[in-house]
Amino acid sequence: MSEDRTVLVTGAGGGLGREIARLLLARGLRVAVADLDEDRLSETVDAAPQRALVLPGDLTAEGAPEATVAAVVKRWGRIDMLVNNAGYGAIQPFLEMQRSTWDRTLGINVIALALLTAAAGRQMGEAGQGRIVNITSPASRMTLPLYTAYAASKAAVDAITRSAAVALAPYGVLVNAVAPGMMDTEMQKSTEAEIARIEGRTDIDAFLAERTARIPLGRRAGVAEIAESVVWLALDAPAYMTAERMNMSGGMDRD
Ligand SMILES: NC(=O)c1ccc[n+]([C@@H]2O[C@H](COP(=O)([O-])OP(=O)(O)OC[C@H]3O[C@@H](n4cnc5c(N)ncnc54)[C@H](O)[C@@H]3O)[C@@H](O)[C@H]2O)c1
Repeated sequence: MSEDRTVLVTGAGGGLGREIARLLLARGLRVAVADLDEDRLSETVDAAPQRALVLPGDLTAEGAPEATVAAVVKRWGRIDMLVNNAGYGAIQPFLEMQRSTWDRTLGINVIALALLTAAAGRQMGEAGQGRIVNITSPASRMTLPLYTAYAASKAAVDAITRSAAVALAPYGVLVNAVAPGMMDTEMQKSTEAEIARIEGRTDIDAFLAERTARIPLGRRAGVAEIAESVVWLALDAPAYMTAERMNMSGGMDRD
């Protein structure tokens, strides 16, 4: 059931990205995975390493987005899909914000995502087809004084998704985004632990339960169900859908 189409998934060393890459491998695609740590990437693709390309490295380094896309094209001669999933967020009170937090957050969430989109978009445009899925967040439209750089970076992801969708539409390339609700990945756990610390909450379980209770569906998202929505957009969604920001947040995000 393997097929010729290829996909690049960033941030695939763990969390949501790992689940997306594994689902795409299970669907028979050739899957390139990018993240900081080589061992974690190899673990992601251990079910079908012969159909995988492991690309370790920091995507914020000069030239890295272009080199990563070029490596996929060099190996397989094509890039059909890109999932911009790699991300970073740090809790930091507004009045204590540090330049380094902004640099790191915007570097991966915004600049690398935009340059990967352009590099992949050029290749896809030549082929006359392609799909790009960006991972945004409900945070992009929330007021989060402890998480300003992250919220701003995800608002930028929404802006890039819209611009890229229009720029690439004449070439038959679709660009959409998924806004996942709270998933208990490493990023989410460390983020909430830090919010609890700053707010002086010692009963972490009660704190987390309160946050969960604010989700209309009354539970957190499973990484697998969010990954399914990303794979649907990348492979199965009707070809008339572009510039869409899909809410997968259990009702938190409503427009
Ligand atoms: N967990 C949630 O509740 C949640 C909610 C909404 C959106 N998101 C988004 O989902 C995506 C996946 O996050 P996750 O929850 O799986 O977190 P995660 O921390 O498990 O995964 C993010 C991955 O990105 C990689 N990464 C970060 N900086 C990088 C860089 N400079 N170069 C290469 N790789 C880099 C990390 O190493 C990590 O493996 C992110 O874009 C995140 O903002 C997560």
